[in-house]
Amino acid sequence: MALERGTAAAMPEVVVSHSAEETRSLGRRLAEHLVPGDLVAFRGNLGTGKTCMIQGVCEGLQVRDVVNSPTFIIINHYEGRLGERDVPVYHFDLYRLTGAKEELEGIGGPEFFSGDGICLVEWADRAWEQLPSPRWEVDLQHSGEAGRRVSWRWTGALKED
Ligand SMILES: Nc1ncnc2c1ncn2[C@@H]1O[C@H](COP(=O)(O)OP(=O)(O)O)[C@@H](O)[C@H]1O
Ligand SMILES: [Mg+2]
Repeated sequence: MALERGTAAAMPEVVVSHSAEETRSLGRRLAEHLVPGDLVAFRGNLGTGKTCMIQGVCEGLQVRDVVNSPTFIIINHYEGRLGERDVPVYHFDLYRLTGAKEELEGIGGPEFFSGDGICLVEWADRAWEQLPSPRWEVDLQHSGEAGRRVSWRWTGALKED
């Protein structure tokens, strides 16, 4: 995992999306900044668009599988591409975790996190302290009926491009 990112990684911090398609396109933009081994932690209540944005990230990673919330099975695995390289994409939904450390270990979290895949984590707040850093953090909030306030940041160092 790269510890430093160019200033290009410092995208606008907060965007209001007015449609599901706009949220997907934010996901596609985020995908442009990902490198193998990255983890993106998504927080936000039910229906704020976590899965929707992840669908966009997966489009950007050329995933051909159908991308849905893996609520009941906790992890979905897709085949993605980054440039010329195949990259596994692991889509987590931690909604059902209660916060105990063993739970995340029980589903193999640490092995996925330390690998070369891209980890996209819904309900990341369920295991916030146990997720690796630096990482991407995305927060989504309702803002009117179809509006979503989306903010994201890279938590590691930024270097001058
Ligand atoms: N601006 C928006 N961004 C994302 N989703 C939106 C937006 N406006 C309406 N929606 C709708 O909200 C729902 C979001 O669902 P989903 O992505 O599954 O949320 P979550 O995974 O956070 O529970 C979808 O039905 C989507 O069509
Ligand atoms: Mg979801």
